[in-house]
Amino acid sequence: MALIRTGVALDSDLLKRFDRLIRKEGYENRSEAFRDLIRDRLNDDSLRSGDPFVVGAVTLIYDHHSRLLPDKLMELQHGYHDVIISTVHSHLDHDMCLEVVVVKGALSKVKELGNRLIGLKGIQHGRLVMSSPQAYAQQSGKHQPHSNHHLKH
Ligand code: NI
Repeated sequence: MALIRTGVALDSDLLKRFDRLIRKEGYENRSEAFRDLIRDRLNDDSLRSGDPFVVGAVTLIYDHHSRLLPDKLMELQHGYHDVIISTVHSHLDHDMCLEVVVVKGALSKVKELGNRLIGLKGIQHGRLVMSSPQAYAQQSGKHQPHSNHHLKH
């Protein structure tokens, strides 16, 4: 895929603030930060239109003593085995657990699972993060899309 150089006119104050932010976030250069912004926008747009293929993760924080919660979590996940790639369970301390459910499939199905997991009684905090790889993937080459990017944040 050809790289095309493009110029953007920005006011200096805005650019200064942007440079400060991306330095804080660990970017080595402005171009990569701009590319990520563009991919984020393409990703967001894809998530808003139609029912695209997505990959993602649901993170759940809960106390495993919550009545019936571990059973319900297990049952719900078996019901969505076709959407779930894997589940990582980490025992944070004597009571609390962190569970990360890695998912892929149609946006509607993934969202439905995420909402049902997060909505279970006893889940103290839950988040669903999704990425639509084909929205920002390079179209022509055989290269794999930069699909892990959004899972890292
Ligand atoms: Ni645990």
